[in-house]
Amino acid sequence: MVSIWSAPANIALIKYWGKKEIQLPANPSLSFSLQNSRSITQVETDTSLKAGTWTFSYDGKPNAVFEKKLKIFFDRIREELSVLDRQGLRIHSKNNFPHSSGISSSASFYASLALCLCELENHAVNRTPGEKEFFQSASRIARLGSGSAARSVYGGFNLWGQSDIRGSSDEYSIPVNTDIHPDFSEYRDAVLIISSEVKSLSSSAGHALMNENPFGPSRYSQARQHLKTLYAALQKGDHTTVIKITEQEALTLHGLIMSSSGGTLLMTPQTVEAIKKIREYRTATNSKCCFTLDAGPNIHFLYPDNEKEKIHNFIRTDLASLCENQQWIDDHLGAGPMKHKNFSL
Ligand code: PMV
Repeated sequence: MVSIWSAPANIALIKYWGKKEIQLPANPSLSFSLQNSRSITQVETDTSLKAGTWTFSYDGKPNAVFEKKLKIFFDRIREELSVLDRQGLRIHSKNNFPHSSGISSSASFYASLALCLCELENHAVNRTPGEKEFFQSASRIARLGSGSAARSVYGGFNLWGQSDIRGSSDEYSIPVNTDIHPDFSEYRDAVLIISSEVKSLSSSAGHALMNENPFGPSRYSQARQHLKTLYAALQKGDHTTVIKITEQEALTLHGLIMSSSGGTLLMTPQTVEAIKKIREYRTATNSKCCFTLDAGPNIHFLYPDNEKEKIHNFIRTDLASLCENQQWIDDHLGAGPMKHKNFSL
């Protein structure tokens, strides 16, 4: 039996930064899934392998770093996924975006792997869950690999973490697309690759530092308030509020990283320069664009679909020179994971 799924990367507008055991968020977060930037994973049961063992390749090659992380992940989920012990598994994965391009590949990777494992488990125990139940379990399993991966098992906007929004949970993410204003359901993201160097602070180390950060408790209540305000603005089509909260969340994330023990600085002069240029462009042209950041130097430049041509010109003339090798990725809000017949994207 073989299962092949692809899943998208996602970009958070309300940031998850700080967690409780095991992989439960300290505050709810809201993201949207991208369309073009994806991981594809194939999991095949193989009777020639000893039951309970597995092999892994990334881009056709063994990868010791991933293998170490996978071992921890499998130990976490072993009790509820009998397929891990029944047979041997051969796992292959790859991305269609550069590995260290500032797009979190762990979210798309764990989401695609969780979808494969849940499908194989259902087959092994002869269970046919409804669609909602299937994706909910995949989201919960993905979360145990990488928290933000919980949000990559659905398309469009996703909410992960207990909040006032009905159906939300710390255990898994839920899609929140029904009342989103059309301007945002066609939102676009140009990922500006300022630097592809490996980050000096891993996200697990960053989350852990939040336990001692003196601003932690007030940050978690700010995130809850931001979520309410931003979600209402996404529904109303209120760009002013979306821009304000999205940028404040991005800078708060970096403020938290700077104010945590060790004082890590992840933005480079080019990041700051690009932010200034984006804000100047917005003021000069009345554009509805804004930026957000992950825990790294790269910029997610967000804008409505009807500004695409002008924004692409602006990137070419003003921003590309700030990017490493002029590199940027043209992406947009997408439809979510896909089941595949072949291991190709
Ligand atoms: O899923 P993790 O542990 O890699 O954490 C991701 C954290 C941020 O990308 C910085 C924010 C988010 O909500 O995606």
